[in-house]
Amino acid sequence: MRVSLLQLAVVAAAGVAADFTYATHNFTYEKLWDLQNHFYQRFVYPNNIAEAANINSTIFSEDVEGRVSDTRNFVGRELNTEYIFGLFTPTDAKSVIGRPLSYDIIQFAANGNIASATTSVQFIFPTFKNASFPVVIDTWLTWNDAEQITQYDVTFRWFGYLLQTLVLGLDPTNSTNAVAQVTETLATSICSTHDTYCTGSNQQYASNAECLNFLTTKIRLGQSFELGMDTLFCRSVHEIMIKPRPDVHCPHIGVSGGGMCDDTISYRTKATENFFTNNAWVAGNLPKLNKDF
Ligand SMILES: *[C@@H]1O[C@H](CO)[C@@H](O)[C@H](O)[C@H]1NC(C)=O
Ligand SMILES: *[C@@H]1O[C@H](CO)[C@@H](O)[C@H](O)[C@H]1NC(C)=O
Ligand SMILES: *[C@@H]1O[C@H](CO)[C@@H](O)[C@H](O)[C@H]1NC(C)=O
Ligand SMILES: *[C@@H]1O[C@H](CO)[C@@H](O)[C@H](O)[C@H]1NC(C)=O
Repeated sequence: MRVSLLQLAVVAAAGVAADFTYATHNFTYEKLWDLQNHFYQRFVYPNNIAEAANINSTIFSEDVEGRVSDTRNFVGRELNTEYIFGLFTPTDAKSVIGRPLSYDIIQFAANGNIASATTSVQFIFPTFKNASFPVVIDTWLTWNDAEQITQYDVTFRWFGYLLQTLVLGLDPTNSTNAVAQVTETLATSICSTHDTYCTGSNQQYASNAECLNFLTTKIRLGQSFELGMDTLFCRSVHEIMIKPRPDVHCPHIGVSGGGMCDDTISYRTKATENFFTNNAWVAGNLPKLNKDF
């Protein structure tokens, strides 16, 4: 924690949680624009392959803290390199995740070491007949003096609508069939990945049939906000990371969900959690209420 005594006094007086620092660097607006673009240039295919290969991408600080709407929170460089870059690279897995091909930042405001942006990212979804859609992503980012991302807070806009569009696109005339198709496709792929890579102490299911039975009858496919819950969609997200690090990721597709795919986080917890500790999301030393109107 890099909070000075003066800052502590200021935030304590204002009644704000005193567990983070304010802007550690005042970058120019132009510099923040470049940093934002740098991130997205590395995010799109094929640059994301090279970034994922770094294992510990220095685009992130070592203690990076990230939160993604509809999934979970991710702490540390290695995990974030996997989930931000590796996850979106081409894969043999038939997963719900797509591949980002190009981007366009359409809204941008920045101050101190914080930037807020809305970016339209063009994706292709191989599992959904190569459907191509823009995905509109809202991000809040902070950087440290070394120009590394120390925090990200990400929201996928209209994500429920996107997911429904993708699934129904499999059979526009019969939604029951579309859901059945996606369930079978994702489960078959997860169980095949399991049989290939989750062996020995990483094994989660006694057999392929047990795996399929569990994934298609014991848990729900999931709603759009349940990609970090006890669902098939959640396990489909984590399937992609199994090949590079089975010891870490096999449990996520198992019965327990390995701490990534379970129903332990309530809505209230989500909505009130105080997750970020590296940097304030306010650029200057403002009290909680600066002026009464
Ligand atoms: C990545 O960083 C982690 C945590 O510091 C470390 O344990 C791991 O060995 C690093 N991996 C590589 C390939 O450098
Ligand atoms: C999707 O595109 C790839 C090439 O990028 C192609 O190999 C594959 O057959 C296509 N799948 C469908 C269902 O069109
Ligand atoms: C819709 O698909 C389901 C599941 O495949 C099937 O049982 C049902 O007969 C289909 N309904 C129509 C109207 O085709
Ligand atoms: C950045 O600028 C803000 C607003 O002028 C100021 O409150 C803050 O102390 C500055 N931070 C640094 C690290 O210089």
